[in-house]
Amino acid sequence: MTKNIRLWMLLILAAAFSACQKSIPGKVQSPSGNIQVEVFTLADGQAAYTVSFNQQLVIDTSGLAFEFLDMAPLRAGLEIRSAESSSFSETWEMPWGEQRYVDNNYNELRVSFAEKEALKRTFELLFRVYDDGLGFRFEFPQQENMGEVFITEEHTQINLTADHKVWWIPGDWDIYEHLYSTSRFSEIDALTYREHANLAQTFIPVNAVSTPVTMKTNSGIYLSFHEAALVDYAAMTLAIDHENLGMTTNLVGSWRDYKVERQTPFNTPWRMIQIAGRAGDLIESRLILNLNEPSKIEDTSWLKPVKYNGIWWEMHLDLSTWAMAGGRHGATTQNAKRYIDFAAENGLDAVLVEGWNTGWENWIGTADREGIYDFVTPYPDYDLRGVVDYAQGKGLNIIMHHETSAAVGTYEQQLDTAYALAESLGIHAVKTGYVGTILPEGEYHLSQFMVNHYQKVLETAAKHKVAVNSHETVMATGLRRTWPNFFASENLRGQEFNAWASDGGNPPDHLTIVPFTRMLAGPIDFTPGIFNIKLGPTKPNNQVNTTLAHQLALYVVLYSPVQMAADLPQNYEGHPAFQFIRDLGVDWEQSKVLDGEIGEYITIARQERDTGHWFLGGITNEESREIMVETNFLEPGVTYRATLYKDAPNAHWMENPAAYVIESQEVTADSKFGIKLAQGGGVAISFIPLK
Ligand code: NOJ
Ligand code: CA
Repeated sequence: MTKNIRLWMLLILAAAFSACQKSIPGKVQSPSGNIQVEVFTLADGQAAYTVSFNQQLVIDTSGLAFEFLDMAPLRAGLEIRSAESSSFSETWEMPWGEQRYVDNNYNELRVSFAEKEALKRTFELLFRVYDDGLGFRFEFPQQENMGEVFITEEHTQINLTADHKVWWIPGDWDIYEHLYSTSRFSEIDALTYREHANLAQTFIPVNAVSTPVTMKTNSGIYLSFHEAALVDYAAMTLAIDHENLGMTTNLVGSWRDYKVERQTPFNTPWRMIQIAGRAGDLIESRLILNLNEPSKIEDTSWLKPVKYNGIWWEMHLDLSTWAMAGGRHGATTQNAKRYIDFAAENGLDAVLVEGWNTGWENWIGTADREGIYDFVTPYPDYDLRGVVDYAQGKGLNIIMHHETSAAVGTYEQQLDTAYALAESLGIHAVKTGYVGTILPEGEYHLSQFMVNHYQKVLETAAKHKVAVNSHETVMATGLRRTWPNFFASENLRGQEFNAWASDGGNPPDHLTIVPFTRMLAGPIDFTPGIFNIKLGPTKPNNQVNTTLAHQLALYVVLYSPVQMAADLPQNYEGHPAFQFIRDLGVDWEQSKVLDGEIGEYITIARQERDTGHWFLGGITNEESREIMVETNFLEPGVTYRATLYKDAPNAHWMENPAAYVIESQEVTADSKFGIKLAQGGGVAISFIPLK
């Protein structure tokens, strides 16, 4: 039976079981009954909800309201007109991803609210409740007293039941490139992040956090809050109310005196709550994708996950420059061919070239950055077509780079031409970047204006069969389901900080927090795989704060369809550990989080599509620990050659980071073994079936 027929049979079966059901108004449960939502009005007629998990209240009574420009707020005086429930069940196939098939099963409650007096405005509150969490959104129908709407604030409350432990970064309107804090909810103080030496732009107006923000209750329940399907709306931060242990949406604004402009009918993005009894279940959840619409790209055959290298780390190490002036240009034809040769000889699929186009002489710190970049004109020492031909002749792709320096007008003017150029060259991937404060002045990286800009870029790219890997944009919200050419984004403190941050770089626990927070939003372009950990000779005061084995493990721990072998070719040349990257898969049949605790350690196993090879990555924070690996995820009855890339017994992220050992053994689904991880260490394992 082909995969497509199987999928259709599932869909038909699902439809047969999904007939509309009637249930008690205002209440809805997840399919297994573990999560329950109640929707009601408060004494003054304000809409409100609660959420329970296994009969325990996890979100206390939380009110909902909107404020507008030139219109009365929508808050009290409401009544429920109707409440209808229904169920849905399907299995859909991801064109690429952490797994092939995704179950999408939920019960839905649609509650219709109306003002009893005055403007008699109406809206529907739609809840979709799954076994791994829920989403809700506001749907505003077209109506007499609400046409063009200027939202000055959305007041969606999320009231907690106790002072949970929280992993958070500040609600910065411009950037997510902050280190995570771990604290009690009552200790969140985002304003301490205002002083930051390493960021080209940052704006933290109130004590709020960015999403995804993840928490653990004293009884061991994990909660994570984010949004799904952010389209034509401002991104949300969550303002912290210490006294009431509550959070309220605080939308990202701009120079305008409103935050969102819409015309009825319209929907807000989904407000999403993930709930799990095990930390790893947060990562295995596909809730954010299920809350997004199916793909709008019909032919996805050109979308191929890749392993890539590129002219990139050498600029961050200050070995060469993006700009040509100064005589140390990185993106020369000759240098590009060197990276291409290495990629072709080592099983990589693509090569990124940064600094190929004119404009870099003035890219940062210039007040008027409009008109500086040109996205079609290569520097004279870079033969664009020649390099592309050379790569394609070796079966490789070139990843084009568009650093916009946040000058949005210039980029939009050239958008169609730039993506048409990529298409004409047979280039199927572009990395974008938005370093600096946004031009037009008064906009922020996460404002509605910018959300619409990123969408325009994504759709233009799709039209030209180009996938996008975006840096310094808005957090992903699952739109890759609808636009599968949205490959990855950065939106965290990536590897680059280890090369130049003045605060010592990313600490060893950084990437034990990221999988449970940032990664819940979507694929990450972190750029792992630095082997020359101490970064000599150009960066004597910086280093990568992990062991080499930890760097290898990141290829499995951090999900991305674009995985970079980020170090310089000469640092990989002749290095036995590079075999792991050669063998590595980048597109997965299934992914399993074997174990993990936020901020401490995590172990993930993923099975490559088509080959059936398995890969495992495990990392720890600054503490050394022994992890037990049970290989019951392997196919029963098959013997695999397991190659383990482990920390050497004396490895240590600071003292001896590059010390590792490679071991090989035969294993089956019944095997079990312990592995010692060094301080800041890790382990990477490939499992290849014996013929
Ligand atoms: C910041 C990006 O994160 C990095 O990857 C890129 O090299 C520089 N900007 C230059 O565009
Ligand atoms: Ca960045």
